[in-house]
Amino acid sequence: MPPVTEFDPAAARDAVERFDLARLAPEFYANPYPWYRALREYAPIKAMPDGSWFLTRYDDILPVYRDPKTFSSDKKKEFGPKYGATPLFEHHTTSLVFNDPPLHSRVRRAILGALSQRHIAAMEPGLVALVDGLLDAMAAKGRVDLIEDFAASIPIEVIGNLLRVPRDERGPLRGWSLAILGALEPVLTRERSETGNRAVTEMLAYLKGLVDERRARPGDADTDVLTRLIKGEADGERLTETELLHQCIFLLNAGHETTTNLIGNALHALTKWPEQRAALIMRTHDDGFVRSAVEEFLRFESSNQLGNRITTREVVVGGAALPADARITIGIGAANRDPAQFPDPDRLDLARDPNRHIAFGFGIHTCAGMNLARLEARIALARFLARFPDYTLDGEPTRGGRARFRGFLHLPARIVG
Ligand code: HEM
Repeated sequence: MPPVTEFDPAAARDAVERFDLARLAPEFYANPYPWYRALREYAPIKAMPDGSWFLTRYDDILPVYRDPKTFSSDKKKEFGPKYGATPLFEHHTTSLVFNDPPLHSRVRRAILGALSQRHIAAMEPGLVALVDGLLDAMAAKGRVDLIEDFAASIPIEVIGNLLRVPRDERGPLRGWSLAILGALEPVLTRERSETGNRAVTEMLAYLKGLVDERRARPGDADTDVLTRLIKGEADGERLTETELLHQCIFLLNAGHETTTNLIGNALHALTKWPEQRAALIMRTHDDGFVRSAVEEFLRFESSNQLGNRITTREVVVGGAALPADARITIGIGAANRDPAQFPDPDRLDLARDPNRHIAFGFGIHTCAGMNLARLEARIALARFLARFPDYTLDGEPTRGGRARFRGFLHLPARIVG
């Protein structure tokens, strides 16, 4: 497939004709937006060679999110052939995000209770101290990796705290998370399958010990997610041991790579948009502006670019008749650059208003951790820019190389301060 750098209608039509999520061009990973634009214009409900459908227009995607009965999140049919009878199959078909009610609603209630605005606000002082500690450590180094030394270190601590994973046991969490979510890519290579399955097995073994320990010594059921999930069992909304462990794995993963990428993508984008960067540096103490900036980073480089649903009946979407059991990929990143919803969508505009992006999805599965992610990003970005306004990239960034989770593995930079 040719790269569609300038918008040339003939090249765009050709790119659309050949577009296949299972066979993406290397250039797509660096910049998928020209493809998304071509798809929105010429084939917004694109039939894939494997029989699935790829949606790229905001107005076609919203009704899909709004109707969970017709557009199910239950992935058993889809993941059976993909994973076979493996730990990855068990994990991805048990976690709440890939289930419909009633399991979904029970687990979601337990998680949301511990992630209320009040509880999240109470995390702020600890988060400020964590971020300031990371900034001090970076100041001592001068040359840093904005991912390893900063962006990735924040969510791992926050989610670790949320589940109260002992600090000295958090080391393997990032690797497990990358491996398990990597297996959700449109193509499951043998290597991704092996590392993903190994990670689920290791994580289950680790978490079993943590759950046993928490059963013996419960935490505060108001704030401790794990105690809440365990207590749900006692309250008659019983999760099996397997269900419980997989929700923990999902929480640790869901809150980790996505938030790392939000912070990393924002710091990268600011190096490309000097006027926006100057505006944010001027207003790091203006909470309203920082909030608006975080929403724009979420829209502009959505860290979760793709979602999935499966139809439970025949249905018309965007004028196309889809059969029952049709597998749908939702183009979150494409919808968030749709000019019908966002004027001048390829421009980073930190003051954009309105900004009804769908980076956190929409409907009954809307991200349960979105306000936590927002808080992490606000504190990380405002404090970083106040301290190191003159940071520069120093070396080639390394992208994660994924279509679903957009972000960097390494972002070498030089800081002064
Ligand atoms: C920038 C950061 C984040 C992004 C972009 C993101 C994105 C998303 C998206 C798009 C969904 C919807 C999936 C679907 O509809 O199929 C989702 C669900 C979810 N996210 Fe996040 N997320 C982020 C951070 C977090 C954090 C920090 C946590 C936990 C503390 C979290 C926990 C969850 C949970 C539990 C669900 C499942 C909700 C449900 O199925 O009802 N996420 N996230």
